[in-house]
Amino acid sequence: MPDYGVLQPRFDAWRARSEATLERILPPADESPQRLHAAMRHAALDGGKRMRPLLVYATGTAFGIDASKLDALGAAVELIHAYSLVHDDLPAMDDDRLRRGKPTVHVAYDDATAILAGDALQSLAFEPLVHSDFDDAIRIAMLRELAVAAGSRGMCGGQALDLAATGDDSSISAPQLERLHAMKTGVLLRASVRIGALGARVDAATTERLDRFADALGLAFQIRDDLLDVEGDSVLLGKTVGKDAAQAKATFPALLGIGASRARLHELARIMETALAPDGERMAALAALGHRVIARDH
Ligand code: IPE
Ligand code: IPE
Ligand code: MG
Ligand code: MG
Ligand code: MG
Repeated sequence: MPDYGVLQPRFDAWRARSEATLERILPPADESPQRLHAAMRHAALDGGKRMRPLLVYATGTAFGIDASKLDALGAAVELIHAYSLVHDDLPAMDDDRLRRGKPTVHVAYDDATAILAGDALQSLAFEPLVHSDFDDAIRIAMLRELAVAAGSRGMCGGQALDLAATGDDSSISAPQLERLHAMKTGVLLRASVRIGALGARVDAATTERLDRFADALGLAFQIRDDLLDVEGDSVLLGKTVGKDAAQAKATFPALLGIGASRARLHELARIMETALAPDGERMAALAALGHRVIARDH
């Protein structure tokens, strides 16, 4: 089992780099329009596990890229993620009031500002990739990866399937639920790994193994999120628990039960380990993140 503890200083350093980069990229709150910029900063700064930037750093550095070249890439994915959370919390979607231990953006500001803040975070996300320190062909591939991951064949499409499957009279099969989870959550996590790997021009066979790892991690991430909504602690999570059942959301615990959901997590942990094994010690940080996704309490 990978030792997250030994790697903790490395993760802390990457998280600090991520915070500093986001702080630099986001417009200052006193720049007009102040209310919009303040809402964007509320959404993106000061909170969150920064799992997507950590995946970018863990993948890129495994293949010899300096962390300083990865800052922009991690920030890009995190800005898409922050936007997705702002819109996910809106009354028209999950109607949540607490996020990262703070009031959600539409509660702290208003619905219209939250919609615009999400929109603006999404377009801001592409800027750091455009300016990043890689060849044109690599930057174009990264931009494409992020654009597809955020769109109707990725996160937005998954959110649409999620909404369609919400409510007592909607039913969905286990394979359909896996697809929904893969799209709404998995594709952006996989994009984090792929964007880190693109920078290093890894070969096709390694890319295929990284995809297998990232697909398992993405599904595991959302299953764990579903389980935490049932058995997690609101203070630790920084969001309200019990909402999925109250809204009759399609989740793993609702469809398969807690025991089968945990069993699926263990299967996914084995898939992650097997996928990374051929690349050995250089994958230690990625392996530790995979394990953290399964074992996390927030
Ligand atoms: C929450 O994502 C939404 C999902 C995709 C399940 P995270 O659990 O990564 O949220 P933060 O970034 O740590 O707040
Ligand atoms: C959200 O899934 C996935 C996104 C694309 C934002 P959830 O709706 O389960 O995320 P939480 O539980 O609100 O963080
Ligand atoms: Mg949701
Ligand atoms: Mg939600
Ligand atoms: Mg959830």
